[in-house]
Amino acid sequence: MSARDQLSTPTIRLSDYRAPAWRVERVELEFELGIDVTEVASRLLLRRDRAQDEPLRLDGEGLELLSIALDGQPLPVDRYRQTEAELEVDGARDGSVLETRVRLRPAQNTALEGLYLSGSRDTGFLLTQCEAEGFRHITFFHDRPDVLAQYTVTLRADRSRFPVLLAGGNPDGAGELADGRHWARFVDPHPKPSYLFAIVAGRLERIARDYRTADGRAVKLVIWSEAHVIDRCEYAMDALERSMRWDEQAYGRNYDLDVFHVVATHDFNMGAMENKGLNVFNAKYLLADPDSTTDDEYRAVEAVVAHEYFHNWSGNRVTCRDWFQLSLKEGLTVFREQQFSADMNSPALKRIEDVALLRRAQFPEDAGPLAHPVRPSQYSEINNFYTATVYEKGSELVRMLAGKLGPDGFRRGMDLYFAHNDGQAATIEDFLGALGEANGIDLSPYLAWYAQAGTPRLRASGRYDATRREYALTLTQHTPPTPGQAEKRALPVPVKLALFARDGHMLPLHVDGHPRSGDTELVVVADKAEQQIVFREVDAEPVPSLLRGFSAPVILEGMDAAADLALLLRHDADGFNRWQAGQQLATCAYETLRDHGGGGAIDAWCGALAGLFAEDGIDPALLAELMTPPGEVELAEREREADPERIHATRQQLQQRLAEQLGGEAILSRYQALARETSAGLDATSQAQRRLKRRLLELLALLDTPTAQLLAAQQYEQAPGMTDRLAALAVLVRSDAPQAAGALAHFRQRYADNPLALDKWFSVQTQRTGEPALAIVQTLERDAAFTLKNPNRVNSLYGAWARNNPSGFHRTDGAGYRLLAERLAELDALNPQIAARLATVLNGWRRLEPVRRARAREAIAALAEREGLSRNLAEIVRSMLH
Ligand code: PHE
Ligand code: ZN
Repeated sequence: MSARDQLSTPTIRLSDYRAPAWRVERVELEFELGIDVTEVASRLLLRRDRAQDEPLRLDGEGLELLSIALDGQPLPVDRYRQTEAELEVDGARDGSVLETRVRLRPAQNTALEGLYLSGSRDTGFLLTQCEAEGFRHITFFHDRPDVLAQYTVTLRADRSRFPVLLAGGNPDGAGELADGRHWARFVDPHPKPSYLFAIVAGRLERIARDYRTADGRAVKLVIWSEAHVIDRCEYAMDALERSMRWDEQAYGRNYDLDVFHVVATHDFNMGAMENKGLNVFNAKYLLADPDSTTDDEYRAVEAVVAHEYFHNWSGNRVTCRDWFQLSLKEGLTVFREQQFSADMNSPALKRIEDVALLRRAQFPEDAGPLAHPVRPSQYSEINNFYTATVYEKGSELVRMLAGKLGPDGFRRGMDLYFAHNDGQAATIEDFLGALGEANGIDLSPYLAWYAQAGTPRLRASGRYDATRREYALTLTQHTPPTPGQAEKRALPVPVKLALFARDGHMLPLHVDGHPRSGDTELVVVADKAEQQIVFREVDAEPVPSLLRGFSAPVILEGMDAAADLALLLRHDADGFNRWQAGQQLATCAYETLRDHGGGGAIDAWCGALAGLFAEDGIDPALLAELMTPPGEVELAEREREADPERIHATRQQLQQRLAEQLGGEAILSRYQALARETSAGLDATSQAQRRLKRRLLELLALLDTPTAQLLAAQQYEQAPGMTDRLAALAVLVRSDAPQAAGALAHFRQRYADNPLALDKWFSVQTQRTGEPALAIVQTLERDAAFTLKNPNRVNSLYGAWARNNPSGFHRTDGAGYRLLAERLAELDALNPQIAARLATVLNGWRRLEPVRRARAREAIAALAEREGLSRNLAEIVRSMLH
C-alpha cells in the first residue's frame, strides 16, 4: 500500500470551496516509458490569481523527484518542500515555468490508479487512469477539476516492446530514435482538467473507421485491443458510430478532434473512462461476440460506449468545478445514455431495467448508513462517491427537469447550458440556471433534490364521491432521516397520473386550474407535506395509475388494492406502467404469502399474468419482465428484520404459484415453441424470445425440476450463443442438477482463454442458494484462475455472491461476513478502490434480523479496527458502523 493511503483522513467540504490561487495554463509532458521504471518530465506554465496570496503548492503522491527547476534555474533544496501529498515551491510568479522530473514504477502499481501495467510483464501494456485524483501519481500538478490546461504530450519507448504510443488530443508527429526506440507526440487543443489526461503504450491491434461529423469534420475512429480479440471490437465500433450520430441529432453536439481512440483493458477499476480523445474501457464493456457475450451484455456495451462518448460534451467540454458536482456530468450523462438506449431499443424495457436498477442499488444506499445527497456536502475519499446515488438518482433528477420543460424546452436549456459553460468548470447551479433561463422558469426549488439524501415516500389515497361525481386524490410526502440529516423538507415531486375506468380505458381528466382539461394523462407536482387534487366529471369510482413512467424517484405507498393493480397490469397500454403495477401487485402477493400463506393478491397477480400469457401480441421480453417479481434485495428493503433465507423461500413459493397457475404443460409447450422459432440473431425479436425462454425454464424448474434440468442440459449443449448457454447453466447450478458438474467442466475448458467468459463461470457458481454457497466460494477462491489482483475476477466471485445471492451470503453463523471481511483486508492492501466498493455490500446490515445483524456487526467492527486500512475502505467501514 502506498504511503498516501495511510495518511490521516481530512474531511473535504463543499462549503470550503475556493477558486484556485494558482492555475496551469499549459503543460508539456515527456514520458520515457518502461514497465519497471518510467520517467516523466513536466513543464508547467503557471498563472497566479493576484487576489490570493498563497505559496505554490502542487499535488503529488508517491513520486520520486529526480530534478526540479524554476524559470530555467535548478532549485536548491531549501527552495522547495516535498511532503507525502504535496510539493511546495518558493519564488514562483505569475508566468513562471516549473520543470520537474519524476520516476514511477508502473509494474508495482496494483491500485490501478495513475500509470500501471495491464496484463503480464511480457505481453501487457501500460496505461493511465486519472479520475478522480490519479494524475498526482504521475506528476506534480493542481490535480483538481477546475484547473484546465492545454496538454502537449511526448511519449518515448522501445519500439518492439511498445509499438503503439497513444495520448489524448490530435497526433502531432512521430519518429525513430536511436537504439530501437521511437517517439510520438499529441497536442490537445481543448483545455482540460487533469482527470481527463491519458496515455496508452504497448502491443495493441486496431480496427479503424472513417467518420464525418454533421459539421463536416473528418474523424478517424480507432478501437484498440490485444491482437487476439480485435475481432470482438466491431460491435463497439458500430455502437460508437450510432452514439456520435445520435448526439448530433438529439443534442446538436459534434465531435471535436481529428481522432477518437478507444482502448480495451482487462484490468480496470470501473466500467470505462471518458479521457479526452482516448477512452479506456474495461474489456467487459467493449468486447462482444455471440459466443461469449449475452444479450444483456451487448446492450451494456452499447450503453457504456454511448455514455463515455456523450461525456465528450457533458463532462469534458463542460466539466465540474469540484468533485461535489460529480453528478453534473454523471447524472446528466447517464440520462443522455438512457435516452439513447431507449431510442435504439425498446423504451419500455429500458425504463424497466433502469428503474429496477435504481430500486435494487440506489434505494438501499439511500436508506442505509452510506446515504448521501446527489451532491454530497463532504467526503474523505472522493472515489467512494461514484455511487448509484450520484449516477442513477442523479439521472432521475435530470429526467424530472427534462419532463418539466418538455422536449423542446429541455433542448433549448441544454443548448444554453453548453453555450454558457463551454470550456469551463461548472456547478449544478449553472445547470439548473441555464435550463431555467432558456425557458423563463425558476428551477431553484429542484436544487433541494440535490442537497437532501433519502428516498421520499409518497403516500396516496383516493375518495370517490358519487353524488358530486368527484374523485379526490390525497398525496402526502415524508422522507425518513438519513445520517447527518435529521430534518427533511418537502420536495417538488412530479406525479404523472391517469385514471382508468373499470373496463380498462383511460378517462379524460378534468382538474380545476389545469389548462389542458380532457387529456388522459397529466403531471401534478406534489410539493407540500400534504395536498389534494380533485377530478371532476368522474362517473364511477376510477382506478388511479400514479407515478407513470416513474416520474420521480420516490417510494409510492398506498393505492394497492389488488383488483386495481391487476386491472392496470392487464390493461395499461404502456409497458412500463404495466410493469410498475405488476411489481406493486407482486409485492402485495409476496407479503400476503409470507404473512398468511395465501390470499387474494396472489390470485390476482397469478391470474392477471395467466391472462397475459395466453394472449398473443405481447412482447415476449416484456412478458418475461412482468412474470418476474421484485428481487430479494428489493423485498428485503421493506423489512425491518430481514431474514434472507426466508425471503428467498417465500419468493420461490410465489413464483411456484405462478408456475402452477400457468400450468406445466403450457410452460413446456411455449418453451419448446420458442426453442424452435428463435434465431441466433441479435435482433430485438430473437433477444426477446431468449429472455422469455429463460424465464419459462426457470419457472418450470420450480414445478417439474427433472424435466427442467433435462431441457437445460439440452439447451446448454445446443446453445447457438452465450445467452442461452449461460441461462441453461444457471438453471443447472441453481437447481443442483446432476448435469451441472459436467456442464461447468465443459464451460471451464471451452473458455479457458477468455477471461470475461471465465468471470461468468465464477459468478454463476456463486448463485447456489443457501448453505452450500460458502463452500463453493471457498473452492473457487483456491482455483488457479482466481486472483485478487483483477477487479473483474474479484467482483465475479465475492461481488456476485454477496450482492446477488442473499440467502447464500447472509448465513446465520456469520461465516459469510467473516470470509468477506478477511478478503477485504487483503484486497485493501492491493487495491483500495475495489476493496471499498466491495465493502458496500454490507451496507444493509442494520436491517437484518438480530442474529445475523450481530454477526455482521462483529465482522465489520473487527475490520474497522485493523491497522493500516486505506482511506477508501476506512471511510466506508466507519460510516457503516455509525
Ligand atoms: N467517469 C467514469 C464514467 O462514469 C467512471 C470512472 C470514475 C472511471 C473513476 C474511472 C475512475 O464514465
Ligand atoms: Zn460517466
